[in-house]
Amino acid sequence: MEGLSNASFYIAPMLESDLAAVVELERLAGLSCWGYEGYKAELRHSPLAVMLVARGQAPFATRPIYGFLAGRVQLSARHDGRELHISNVAVYPEARRRGLGRRLLQEALYTGRLYGATTAFLEVRQSNHAAQALYASLGFAAIARKRGFYSDPPEDGLLMEIAL
Ligand SMILES: CC(C)(COP(=O)(O)OP(=O)(O)OC[C@H]1O[C@@H](n2cnc3c(N)ncnc32)[C@H](O)[C@@H]1OP(=O)(O)O)[C@@H](O)C(=O)NCCC(=O)NCCS
Repeated sequence: MEGLSNASFYIAPMLESDLAAVVELERLAGLSCWGYEGYKAELRHSPLAVMLVARGQAPFATRPIYGFLAGRVQLSARHDGRELHISNVAVYPEARRRGLGRRLLQEALYTGRLYGATTAFLEVRQSNHAAQALYASLGFAAIARKRGFYSDPPEDGLLMEIAL
């Protein structure tokens, strides 16, 4: 990965053929676990799913994907409209700090807008300062603390929001 820049990667829709790698990265990154069947069901049955991957440009790529994001646009419980909920985002350790996380999120926010969402939400572990810095750099703001939201290990979550 030495010498590879942001331009060595591109963002694309997630395919079922990506799911083995997505599940591997989900586990490696210690994210809340949807598992293979969870992602497959989302891809097949949720018309407003926002499922993205970061791929390496040929001929540099040695992995099928370098990062992924999973989210979904849904009706808001609070107002008459739609919201984008971002559930999981991760980048392989060797590809971090090259702007892939930012590009995955930017593409997800753009797609969410196209699907009619006016707000986006996500939860993040209180101790996950890297992810919080990424979200804040895009304009997300913490709006609530969710006590005991996470398990394994147990931890509070921060609910973050951005207007689209
Ligand atoms: C969080 C994560 C997705 C970020 O991916 P990434 O591709 O490295 O992020 P980017 O390169 O796009 O970073 C964009 C900005 O976010 C901030 N940021 C990202 N990682 C950071 C870190 N380790 N420390 C401080 N700031 C960080 C910086 O402001 C960075 O901009 P800069 O590199 O110009 O300073 C990645 O660290 C990861 O996969 N972590 C494990 C899984 C995880 O925690 N997911 C989030 C669950 S809510």
